[in-house]
Amino acid sequence: MGNQRVLSLVQPTGNLHLGNYLGAIRNWVEGQNQYENFFGVADLHAITVPHNPATLAADTYAIAALYLACGMNLECTSIFVQSHISAHSELTWLLNCITPLNWLEDMIQFKEKAVKQGENVSTGLLDYPVLMAADILLYQADKVPVGEDQKQHLELTRDLAARFNHQFARKQPVFKLPEPLIRAEGARVMSLTDGTKKMSKSDPAEGSRINLLDPPDAIAKKIKRCKTDLFEGLEFDNSERPECHNLLTLYMLLSGKTKAEVTAECAQMRWSQFKPLLTETTINALKPIQDKYRAVMDDKGYLESVLRQGREKAQAIADRTLSQAKAALGYSVPL
Ligand code: TYM
Repeated sequence: MGNQRVLSLVQPTGNLHLGNYLGAIRNWVEGQNQYENFFGVADLHAITVPHNPATLAADTYAIAALYLACGMNLECTSIFVQSHISAHSELTWLLNCITPLNWLEDMIQFKEKAVKQGENVSTGLLDYPVLMAADILLYQADKVPVGEDQKQHLELTRDLAARFNHQFARKQPVFKLPEPLIRAEGARVMSLTDGTKKMSKSDPAEGSRINLLDPPDAIAKKIKRCKTDLFEGLEFDNSERPECHNLLTLYMLLSGKTKAEVTAECAQMRWSQFKPLLTETTINALKPIQDKYRAVMDDKGYLESVLRQGREKAQAIADRTLSQAKAALGYSVPL
């Protein structure tokens, strides 16, 4: 296990899709043995938009089970649930009080989501990046592997850490400034129905994304119907062909082939040849994850013990940082 600490979380809203996997979780798993890792389920973030209380707990456990199914190694990785560790909410409040409002109003994701929600926008949605900063800063994370869409939130996290250290902890900084880890390939997986939009859990069109738990026939149907174009042959990096670039990238990442290999293999293909190939590759890549997921879900006791251990380890670190932040702000220690 390395000395550097890696942390990331995923929201338990709906099913995880190929964007979450290729942009984030796959990279967590690939690099995990070099680091000490904390991977969480962001169930506090899940209520920043209207949510279903009847399914929140089950969705949260399902994401933790998917982490295990994707290959988390518990010797170097702790898996935890955000709401189980109260330091996340408490540090959010402390950071709120040093966060200029206009920093939050400038966040692209807030603007996009706020437009979608009209008058129903909650204060929580605006505050979401501060909660995310608290998640990261509590663990003194060195690296945060995420997809491209979280980049701006990581910049805000660094700005907040620097601001806090500068205002309250100049002699001995409380927070470490984390580095984003964003891979070039897979950092922005696009929708299957529109190659200019990112694949997203909140897209009302189910056919726009492939979920990690989709059965083979659903995968086949979605790829069969996905948007393509009328050009001849297949190619990467043609800005007039966003769907083509996206589908070739999916094939490359899921098959484990290099870009040069995929270019050579697919340059002369028609869509009618490529789509079955992508379908088979996707089904084969997801099968081991789906099998392991079912095994984990069949053993609730095991999953609970993993989360208990994860919480204990995470909480010790989070509480220590929270105490340091409170001391720097001048709070008294309870007697
Ligand atoms: P969330 O749950 O929306 O997404 C989880 C991860 O998946 C990545 N991702 C994508 N990557 C590539 N292509 C896509 N189409 C795509 N869609 C999503 C996201 O970048 C993310 O890495 N606020 C975060 C969760 C969070 C978090 C944190 C992350 C809470 N606290 C602390 C890192 C550190 C979110 O809503 O991600």
